[in-house]
Amino acid sequence: MGRFATLTSSALTAFALFSTTEAACSSKKNDTCPMQVRSAYAGPEGMVVSWNTYSRLSDPFVRYGKSPHHMDKVAVSYVSVTYPTSTTYNNHVSIKDLEPNAVYYYVPMDGKEKTPFTFKTSRSVGDKSPYSIAVVVDLGLIGPDGLTTHVGTGAANPLKPGDKNTIQSLEAQGDVTEFLWHPGDIAYADYWLKEEIQGFLPNTTIEGGAKVYESLLNQFYDEMTAVTGVKPYMVGPGNHEANCDNGGTTDKVHDIKYNVSICLPGQTNFTGFINHFRMPSAQSGGLGNFWYSFDHGMVHYVQLDTETDLGHGFIGPDEPNGVEAEDAGPFSTLKDAQTKWLAKDLASVDRSKTPWIIVAGHHPWYASIGTDASDVCFDCKDVFEPIFLENNVDLVLSGHVHAYERNAPTANFTADPKELNNPSSPWYIMNGAAGHYDGLDTLTEPRNSYSRFSQDTAYGWSKLTFHNCTHLTHEFVSSANGTVLDTATLFKNHKC
Ligand SMILES: [Fe+2]
Repeated sequence: MGRFATLTSSALTAFALFSTTEAACSSKKNDTCPMQVRSAYAGPEGMVVSWNTYSRLSDPFVRYGKSPHHMDKVAVSYVSVTYPTSTTYNNHVSIKDLEPNAVYYYVPMDGKEKTPFTFKTSRSVGDKSPYSIAVVVDLGLIGPDGLTTHVGTGAANPLKPGDKNTIQSLEAQGDVTEFLWHPGDIAYADYWLKEEIQGFLPNTTIEGGAKVYESLLNQFYDEMTAVTGVKPYMVGPGNHEANCDNGGTTDKVHDIKYNVSICLPGQTNFTGFINHFRMPSAQSGGLGNFWYSFDHGMVHYVQLDTETDLGHGFIGPDEPNGVEAEDAGPFSTLKDAQTKWLAKDLASVDRSKTPWIIVAGHHPWYASIGTDASDVCFDCKDVFEPIFLENNVDLVLSGHVHAYERNAPTANFTADPKELNNPSSPWYIMNGAAGHYDGLDTLTEPRNSYSRFSQDTAYGWSKLTFHNCTHLTHEFVSSANGTVLDTATLFKNHKC
């Protein structure tokens, strides 16, 4: 039995960890069975519903309605796309003319699901009623081929028996949060090589790696359906979406250094990420799934790309070999396209309607990880921070470093003297502790002068609560048992 067959079996085992199993397709016999179901905001009255199938669909459609017993509307598209090495097709259907802040029930195609999937549309722009969202960065596959209760040689931080993992924790909190934001490092399919080297996937070969990569991706997206099938899932690019080689992987025992040259076409240059999602860049003037913005109630959200297209001649910083490690992008042919878009996007925000501006980008620049700067992106700081300051951005979220660190509102490495009491600098929170095969990173002492709380021993996610137009609370929620390990509230004297 080959490795791929083994992984298929493991996928079913991993999926049994989750309660929403109706999206699972038990075999390829039913090759139009919907898998990996997800939705995303698409403008104030729109949503995109996406799912994968083993075979190409000529006319993907979604049945939907405001009652689970009366899904009388149909939206159709002709988008069923794939790429070399993929084992599935990505189907995307755009739904328009929806009511704001309304729950809709839906099934892809003529699904036989006993319980329809759901999404709630975005709140009207300017709606000042309170709500919460969930944010994860650096969330990988859970289960026998990813983060589980044991690790390979040299890895650390396995799940403790009885602990919830982050996907289960996100599922358990139900509709307390309105959407899930995942700014990069999604699935960690490119860890197949590291897992193989560490003896965790012992039957994998370099030649068979492409199939394993796709299997890990499929397993992760199936697991995530427990969450993404019931609320919007907004994503951004991280370094682990770039290609199949994990930014360059070294087999120290055999003294072999692998790089992107081992990746087949389809497993380079963010191809899977580009095919799998449809973020609202068309509605916001952004670019693909790389940079875009959207409004939801009293908040203007901005997703940035810290991996490519920084302008100033940079292609993409990454660990540990800089530009060469990702070997990706640029995705715009225009000079400084992303920063020009960001400046224009932020300048056009009507703060009387959306007083809050929240930005997410995968790489941090304020992080206590010592003098080795390979995991922080100072190039990103150079291009983005001046625009944040000019436009009074309230909060900047990042991850990449697999730990949690809440900084003070900060500008140019200096804490704002007003701290959380109406600062003029953006608040910076790094939370890359969602969990994947390779565990957590260790933060270094002393912490940066602007660091205010940090922890690097527990997996968890961020919960943001917008109380009104002047108060915003961030909580670090421990995935293991749902306890809040850190909470802090920002006051901004927004007028509304
Ligand atoms: Fe990362």
